[in-house]
Amino acid sequence: MSDRTDNGLAGGASQLPRHIAVIMDGNGRWAKKRGLPRTAGHTAGADSFRRAARYCRKLGVEYLTVYAFSTENWKRPAEEVAGIMKLLEQYLRQALRDMEKEKIRICIFGDLAPFSPELRQMCAECMERSKIYSGCQVNICLNYGGRDEIVRAAERWAADGCPALSEDVFSGYMWGGHIPDPDLLIRPGGEMRISNFLLWELAYAELYFSDVLWPDFDEKEFDKAIAAYRGRERRFGDVGEGKA
Ligand code: IPE
Ligand code: IPE
Ligand code: MG
Repeated sequence: MSDRTDNGLAGGASQLPRHIAVIMDGNGRWAKKRGLPRTAGHTAGADSFRRAARYCRKLGVEYLTVYAFSTENWKRPAEEVAGIMKLLEQYLRQALRDMEKEKIRICIFGDLAPFSPELRQMCAECMERSKIYSGCQVNICLNYGGRDEIVRAAERWAADGCPALSEDVFSGYMWGGHIPDPDLLIRPGGEMRISNFLLWELAYAELYFSDVLWPDFDEKEFDKAIAAYRGRERRFGDVGEGKA
């Protein structure tokens, strides 16, 4: 078992999760309930993301990985995709402006090739300029797919001349490199599926599903998810605390 998977937390999850992953789902339904266009739901979802990142930093969560746009989301109407791209640009512009205040390291996971040159440039600038912040790292998954990540990792490994493989070595070829795996996966929005998110990294994550839609998933909801996590016993295949 690699350290990366159990994070040294085997035997109980009483500590704060070091790494939280979130599938930010339910924006469209949030808008529909209010008679608004889906894009309004994405705007509210982007606000919810800003709030979540600040809250995780405040709590001392070291890594927050959010699913913002999947490799499958290109199937959506062109108008909705364009709206999401515009919001992304706005988010990155604001992140660049407020960087000194927020003190969050931003990383982007996913293939940015299909995005506009402006957006790619802003992503690169955000990653480069926020490198100096330690404490909280926020990974934004854009044009991200779990299977795509594994295939790309295999390609990079092959391009490296196929060095001797172990789980840990292979992990190094993932978007996040050797960061610890998520301890807790939160999926708001009522669906109980993974939707091609972090297929490799979620091997031993605790799963938390909530019917609350992402734009309404506030600090209180995070507290509930973390409390549920703290109540779990993480065994990692061992027999548990009592050690029968
Ligand atoms: C998640 O919200 C945001 C993205 C996938 C970009 P949805 O847009 O999937 O919201 P619902 O699931 O339709 O409510
Ligand atoms: C998952 O949500 C992707 C993101 C949140 C970015 P979807 O709404 O795309 O997932 P499905 O289609 O319900 O599985
Ligand atoms: Mg959805």
